[in-house]
Amino acid sequence: MTVAAYPGSFDPVTNGHLDIIHRASRIFDQVIVALFVNLEKSPMFTAEERLEMVREVTAGLPNVTVESSTGLLVDFCRRRGVDVVVRGLRAISDFDYEFQMAQMNKELYERVETVFMMTRKEHLFLSSSIVKEIARLGGDVSRFVPEGVHRRLMEKIGETGGGGLR
Ligand code: PNS
Repeated sequence: MTVAAYPGSFDPVTNGHLDIIHRASRIFDQVIVALFVNLEKSPMFTAEERLEMVREVTAGLPNVTVESSTGLLVDFCRRRGVDVVVRGLRAISDFDYEFQMAQMNKELYERVETVFMMTRKEHLFLSSSIVKEIARLGGDVSRFVPEGVHRRLMEKIGETGGGGLR
């Protein structure tokens, strides 16, 4: 049985993330969406809100579970019996960071393999950061995020103006 982790910040989860989760769930026996809490970032949504949103949008996928974690991804993989880390690759600009992370994770935990999935062309330039920026500035992001996430984004911006940048 192959257990894969799909790690990320998911602030918030976008249609691009969701597409990768769907595709990964067809390849691997179990997919754990691993929401990492980075104390140095100031996210728009709390870890609980992000977790709830990812749970809502993956509820129909029986082999997908969602967990939050702190610390190193490789330690999460060791604890949870994860052999494969899934990451989506968008434009060339992702490559440097992703390559470095994959190399370092392999260095730290020989057993783990990083598998990159190419983003669909309609999601090539989609990111949580750009969605938040457009939404904060009054643009329509309804086609970039699931419906429930869009509603929460609008609520959050109404309440706080969008809060933490990035
Ligand atoms: O959605 P993001 O922000 O691109 O996800 C980045 C994430 C969470 C995958 C990355 O920051 C990570 O793996 N964090 C866990 C801490 C860790 O293991 N850092 C060393 C990576 S080599």
